[in-house]
Amino acid sequence: MRRAVCPGSFDPVTNGHVDIVGRAAQLFDEVVVAVGVNQSKNRLFTPEERIAMLEEATGEFPNVRVEAFQGLLTDFCLERDIIAIVKGLRAVSDFDYELQMAQMNSSLSGIETVFVPTSPEYSFLASSLVKEVAAYGGDVAPLVPPHVLSALHDRLAERSSG
Ligand code: PNS
Repeated sequence: MRRAVCPGSFDPVTNGHVDIVGRAAQLFDEVVVAVGVNQSKNRLFTPEERIAMLEEATGEFPNVRVEAFQGLLTDFCLERDIIAIVKGLRAVSDFDYELQMAQMNSSLSGIETVFVPTSPEYSFLASSLVKEVAAYGGDVAPLVPPHVLSALHDRLAERSSG
């Protein structure tokens, strides 16, 4: 059983994330999508909401499951016999930080990081930009799954009325 993790904040999940998770699911027997729940970060969606959105977005992949994680990613991996961390690389600007994390994680645990190039149509995509564009009324429908789009609109409307 070759098990991998796709870690991230997923605030919220985008079509770029779904693309990487789906491709990881073809490379490994099982993929755990690990949702970071670090309390100190200011998020638009709660961990439970992010997990529910991911479960729906990845429901088409039978060998994918979603879990919350806190603390070190390598500890999460060691506890679950996860042998690889799968990360999408959008552009060379991602590479410096991702390489540093991959080397740190490898030195902590021996767990390998596998980089998957983001599909070109998603190379500019980031959750932070999706939130910003949506907050200013831009159309993000092509960038996120439909249920995420409606959750995003609902949350932004709540925020602007409250
Ligand atoms: O979607 P993000 O915010 O880019 O995800 C970053 C994440 C959660 C994958 C990264 O911050 C992480 O792995 N955090 C867990 C804490 C940890 O293990 N830190 C050491 C990294 S070398």
